[in-house]
Amino acid sequence: MKSIVILISGRGSNMESLLNAVASGSLPICVAAVFSNRADAKGLETAAAKGISTRVVDHQQFASREAFDAAMAEAIDVFSPDLVVLAGFMRILSDVFVRHFAGRLINIHPSLLPSFPGLHTHQRALVEGVRVHGCTVHFVTPALDHGPIIVQAAVPVLDGDDETSLAARVLAQEHQVYPLAVRWFAEGRLRLVDGRVEFNAPQDSAGALISPLMR
Ligand code: GAR
Repeated sequence: MKSIVILISGRGSNMESLLNAVASGSLPICVAAVFSNRADAKGLETAAAKGISTRVVDHQQFASREAFDAAMAEAIDVFSPDLVVLAGFMRILSDVFVRHFAGRLINIHPSLLPSFPGLHTHQRALVEGVRVHGCTVHFVTPALDHGPIIVQAAVPVLDGDDETSLAARVLAQEHQVYPLAVRWFAEGRLRLVDGRVEFNAPQDSAGALISPLMR
């Protein structure tokens, strides 16, 4: 069975959705450990309560980004994971770290990339007036919130939405697509070929998502 390490920085709801999928039998992988760069990340308690090994590598204890990333990579390597899963890990990763885990490092981002990389994605989507928003799971490359896209989920932006309501609608989809992407990886369905994702599954959902919907 393939093993993963999950990296978090805070709440850990995406991590929890992965752990729940493993517990329910719908995600056939082993979660070797959960890492955080912050000792106060709430998700650490959630993971520990579910019997998962947790580790803290506090970025404040390191003089440079490179030194922190090197320590993190070394600590992750102890578990020899097949895949490193960034789940709300709010640190920019150095090129050396990204290259070290090339092809086995994935991230979830709360926007339809390449729109709205970075922070405050929901607020920016509302300011721009987009009608469709969502989330993206992608392989990580050295460019921030960039890299070959594995799966996206789109949600409508509704009249009257604020940042909170839109974030909640997107987060519900994050919790669906991240376990799915990790399952595809575990099943050997995902491959990076020339910097693009090759996905070995029948593509049977060719319909369009239109927002707002005409009635
Ligand atoms: C999630 O919305 C995730 O997509 C986002 O942080 C949140 C973490 O929530 N990640 C990024 O913005 C990465 N660029 P969680 O801790 O409850 O999973």
